Amino acid sequence: MDKNQALQRVTELRKTLRRADYLYYQEAQSEISDKEYDQLMQELINLEEKFELETPDSPSQRVGGAPTKNFETVSHPVPMLSLSNTYNHDEVDEFDRRVRESLGHSDFTYMVELKYDGMAIRLRYENGTLVLGATRGDGSKGDDITNNIKTVKDIPLRVEQTVAEIMEIRGEAYMERDAFAEMNRKREEAGDATFANPRNATAGTLKLQDSKIVATRPIRFFTYDFLIDGNSKMAQSEKLDMLEKMGFPVCEHRQKCDSIEEVHQLIDKWDQSRNSYPFETDGVVVKVNEDRFRDELGQTAKAPRWAVAYKFEAERAVTRLNDITLQVGRLGSITPVAELEPVLLAGTTVKRASLHNQDEIERKDIRIGDQVTIEKAGEIIPQVVEVLDKENPTRSQPYVFPKECPACSEKLVRLPGEVAWRCVNIQCPPQMRSRIQHFASRDALDIDGLGEAIVDQLVTENLISDFTDLYELELEQLIPLERMGEKSAQNLIDSIANSKRQPFDRVLYALGIRFVGTTVARDLARAFSSMTALIEASEEELTAVDSIGPKIAESVRFFLDDAKNLRLVERLKGFGLAMEAEEKEKAGDSLEGKTFVITGTLPILKRNEAKALIEEHGGKVTGSVSKNTDMLLAGEEAGSKLQKAEKLGIAIISEEMLFEMLNHQ
Ligand code: IVH
Repeated sequence: MDKNQALQRVTELRKTLRRADYLYYQEAQSEISDKEYDQLMQELINLEEKFELETPDSPSQRVGGAPTKNFETVSHPVPMLSLSNTYNHDEVDEFDRRVRESLGHSDFTYMVELKYDGMAIRLRYENGTLVLGATRGDGSKGDDITNNIKTVKDIPLRVEQTVAEIMEIRGEAYMERDAFAEMNRKREEAGDATFANPRNATAGTLKLQDSKIVATRPIRFFTYDFLIDGNSKMAQSEKLDMLEKMGFPVCEHRQKCDSIEEVHQLIDKWDQSRNSYPFETDGVVVKVNEDRFRDELGQTAKAPRWAVAYKFEAERAVTRLNDITLQVGRLGSITPVAELEPVLLAGTTVKRASLHNQDEIERKDIRIGDQVTIEKAGEIIPQVVEVLDKENPTRSQPYVFPKECPACSEKLVRLPGEVAWRCVNIQCPPQMRSRIQHFASRDALDIDGLGEAIVDQLVTENLISDFTDLYELELEQLIPLERMGEKSAQNLIDSIANSKRQPFDRVLYALGIRFVGTTVARDLARAFSSMTALIEASEEELTAVDSIGPKIAESVRFFLDDAKNLRLVERLKGFGLAMEAEEKEKAGDSLEGKTFVITGTLPILKRNEAKALIEEHGGKVTGSVSKNTDMLLAGEEAGSKLQKAEKLGIAIISEEMLFEMLNHQ
């Protein structure tokens, strides 16, 4: 294929992929399968790379790029204001009166939209191409998060029928409730912290430096404003229609109202149905529709005078707290739960509410038997807002948080800096199933055929009580299980046996150590190369590894300091699972047994290159100088490590000396 042919194919692929994105996200349809989409995307990426055909508006940009260190600050040519809030119909009437008084007539209409509960974003298109995506920041300056924004498939990277050379688009990034819940479920399973609500998840995601991760998160976008150089002379309703025509996502819940009475009716209607939308909304925005009146009404320092937000009241109910129970999460975190006298709230009967943690119970002084107010506000699970009868002399005693796991009686622990108590017994029954599933999952030991239903049966039938038992399962035990024929039983036995061939880093990940995801597991395996070395590593040596901070180091140490966990590891080793990283091709062994620390800026090598070079020759690199260090490789501007090495009498070498050592092997 020559460059011309490549360009032709690239153009074709882009067109197909753009159409697929549009259909999928705007029209909820698809003409091609996910698999086909992925294949076409890969073909596009390969061709663009090979023939240097990358462009900023290519759909290949959707997958994210290299991580950045910092976001650039960008000024907003037109400030991103906020809205004044109103909380009842009287205040909305008050707004209407102010508008009419200011204008001196009533010859205008309102545009009413939902208020999406996410994160405000500004987009800039030049000649139809998306050139900038930015956060609101302080309203006049925000962060340039273009790389992250490009991964949001709702947002067109190019607009075919652009209406102006420069278009500024404003809108809200958000997550749908279901996608949010699913993402949290997966995070919990992987031992990652969960997000409190879709809004936090959206903001947290869009501020990540690694756009490849952003690309995996379910961020969506609604457009609500459109500015072009000079005055567009378009009413809000026309702007939204125009945006929709250009391929931008615009929420279908929008309506023009001729009078404030109509606005009131719409507010009530939407308030009633707000729980049925797939996304969260915290109110309604009422905007003067006609552009010319907006200019006339102007704005205060913070908010326009032509619009107002009506905030929905968080739905609340009062009921009795019958009991407090503890829930053991999939990875051992303990959540206290309020067992309530059933009560109707936001269209559903609520029997339980989250009490979050011990501090929260103490802060609100929540006791068994109390009358409490509960609320659903942005959160999926109802919350206990407050206790109503604190003065009641017959109240029960303050709640004492149990010291033991309700499921397995293991002593609960609370790591410094964490709010949650946790049960660290990885054989604790409620944790068992999810730990086994994690062990077998695709990125871990990839045991095909060990889905949720099978794990459930294996545990219920007492065939396994932790993941190590998998390796003792026999064909005869599996065949009688439901939905299991001889063939699938044999397949399962085979895939369990095959999993023994998985590399050490996957075994590490499979153990389900808190905060040890696939990347951390890989880094640990590379840095310590064997389970024995890892078990011996101090917290300090752990934090010396690039991706490992104190929190992860502490969690790893905590896991490996537990005799029960070590027994499981031993058992896995006994079954033949990899406990050592595969030997890399060694360039030599002249540095065998020597421990190095690298500091300062080296003349030629980057630090990680020097590290790789030392390791290829059998040496080890750690992060801090101690009496176990043999040599300090020091470059320019070496600081405290150099001083410490001098004090301890450790050999200090330059990069040149290192090269010499390697040449004389
Ligand atoms: S119009 C001049 N329309 O609410 C400000 N804002 O408190 C014009 N928001 O930061 C904003 N849905 O991110 C507008 N339909 C909607 C909205 C909306 C959500 C957010 C927006 C802004 C905040 C204002």
